[in-house]
Amino acid sequence: MSSRKTALVTGAAARIGAETSKALHRRGCDVLIHYNSSESAALKLVDELNAERAESAFPAQADLSSPKGLEQLAGEARKHFERLDILVNNASRFYPTVMGQTKAWQWDDLLNSNLRGPYFLVQELLDDLQTAGGNVINIIDIHAERPMPGHAVYCMSKAGLAMMTQALAQELGPSIRVNGVSPGAILWPANEPDTQEKQAILEKVVLERVGSPADIASAVAYLALDAPYVTGQILAVDGGRSLNV
Ligand SMILES: NC(=O)c1ccc[n+]([C@@H]2O[C@H](COP(=O)([O-])OP(=O)(O)OC[C@H]3O[C@@H](n4cnc5c(N)ncnc54)[C@H](OP(=O)(O)O)[C@@H]3O)[C@@H](O)[C@H]2O)c1
Repeated sequence: MSSRKTALVTGAAARIGAETSKALHRRGCDVLIHYNSSESAALKLVDELNAERAESAFPAQADLSSPKGLEQLAGEARKHFERLDILVNNASRFYPTVMGQTKAWQWDDLLNSNLRGPYFLVQELLDDLQTAGGNVINIIDIHAERPMPGHAVYCMSKAGLAMMTQALAQELGPSIRVNGVSPGAILWPANEPDTQEKQAILEKVVLERVGSPADIASAVAYLALDAPYVTGQILAVDGGRSLNV
C-alpha cells in the first residue's frame, strides 16, 4: 500500500463525483471510485486515473441505501487503504415527490441514500478516518435551506445532511473535520427542466450562468486539503443564487 493520501468519493462514476475524484487524484490522492449501477463509466475512470499513476485508483460497487452496502464499501476501502484521509459523500437520489402522492418507498429511497447512507458510512469508516486525522465533505444542496417546489422529501434529506455536517463536526473534532459544499445549478438532471424553467432559475443566479462540476471539485479540494482550520462549514457554490431564492 502506498503512503499517498487516500480519498473515497461516493457516486464517483460520472458528473460531479467523477470531476471531484479527478481533482483529488490530481492533488496526489489515491482514490476509491464508488458506483452503484454505472459500472462501465466507473471502470473507465479508474483506468484513466491508473494510466496517469499506476495503482492509484480502485473501483467499488455498493448500494448505499442498504446497511450491507455500506459495510461492503467500508471493507473495500480497508482492502485498498491503510487509513482514509478524505470521505466525500456525493452520491444522491433526486426526483420530485408531491404531497398526496408520495410513496413510502420514495421516502425510504431518498432518505436512506441521501442521509442515512452518509451518516452510517462515516460510522463504518470512523477508525480509518481517525487514524488519518482525516476529513469528511458532504455534498449538500442550496435547497437544504430553502425548498425546491415539488421536492419536499429530497430537500428534507439534504437539510438533514446539512445538520449532520455541523453536528458531526462538533462531535468528531478535533481529530476529524467535517464540512459541506452546497451546489446551486451545476448540471441539469436526467429529466431536464424546459427552457422556460431553466431561464427562471438562471434569472436568480447573480453570475448569470450555471456552474461546472469543476467548480464543485475545486471547493471540495480546498476544504479537504487546504483548510486545516475549517470545520462545520457549508460552502455554497452557486454563482450567488442563494442570495435570491
Ligand atoms: N447536479 C447539480 O446541479 C446539483 C445541484 C445541487 C446539488 N447537487 C448535489 O451534488 C451531488 C452530485 O450531483 P450529480 O448531479 O452529479 O449527482 P447524480 O448524477 O444525480 O448522482 C450521483 C450518483 O449517485 C449514485 N447513487 C444514487 N443513489 C445511490 C445509492 N443508493 N447507492 C449508491 N449510489 C447511489 C449514482 O451512482 P450510479 O450511477 O453508479 O448508480 C449516481 O451516479 C449530489 O449530492 C447532488 O444532490 C447537484
